[in-house]
Amino acid sequence: MTRQTLIAGNWKMHGLTEALGFFGAIAPIAAKSPATVLVCPPATLLQQAARACDGTVVRVGGQDCHAAPSGAHTGDISAAMLRDAGATHVILGHSERRADHGERDADIRAKAEAALAAGLVPVICVGETLSEREAGREVEIVAGQLAGSLPENAASVDLVIAYEPVWAIGTGLTASVADVASMHAAIRERLPNPATSCILYGGSVKPDNAAELLGLADVDGALVGGASLNASDFTAIIEAASRKRE
Ligand code: 13P
Repeated sequence: MTRQTLIAGNWKMHGLTEALGFFGAIAPIAAKSPATVLVCPPATLLQQAARACDGTVVRVGGQDCHAAPSGAHTGDISAAMLRDAGATHVILGHSERRADHGERDADIRAKAEAALAAGLVPVICVGETLSEREAGREVEIVAGQLAGSLPENAASVDLVIAYEPVWAIGTGLTASVADVASMHAAIRERLPNPATSCILYGGSVKPDNAAELLGLADVDGALVGGASLNASDFTAIIEAASRKRE
């Protein structure tokens, strides 16, 4: 069975209405690619982005959701609201959410379950800090995050996991190809559906390193931050992913 290849862009807190031209620029490249192409803009642009992608293969997703279906949670967004706005996926447990909002594994599990209940694919992020890697604890940390944050029914869904070493995010540093290969293998063997689960790498993925990273057997795609803000960089990464299946 072939696992899906997924190239996902995470715009983080970037993007005003004028950024929507991006979708028209990437759609023709995405149409030629065997990879699934997903872009997660800020929530304020989600519905407009979904409309811009209507009739194209490009999908849009959220960057976070609340675990409850609705309620008195000022400023939060439910999974059903993301779905209603046109999302197919939602990023959960990004290290910036863990750091800025104190999200713990149990919160991420609850959010993942809410996402699945609303018909969204959760993209669950894991990754160690530099000090954890320097202490040789990276596999232990990531294994703990997986054990704590995978949804209850993980065995009956095809999961998307994003391995994003915290020290590689926005720094221009990437984990070595050997380190990525061994971490992705370690993640895969801890998943209930290893053969069908999709494991992305994230952390300073750029046009000039995408082919090498995406060439690894256990790397099923990329979660791209900075380079997803620029249509020509992002399409170059989509093209690198297209070569994965050649
Ligand atoms: P950069 O690609 O900017 O390093 O960000 C990675 C990331 O955090 C994607 O979720």
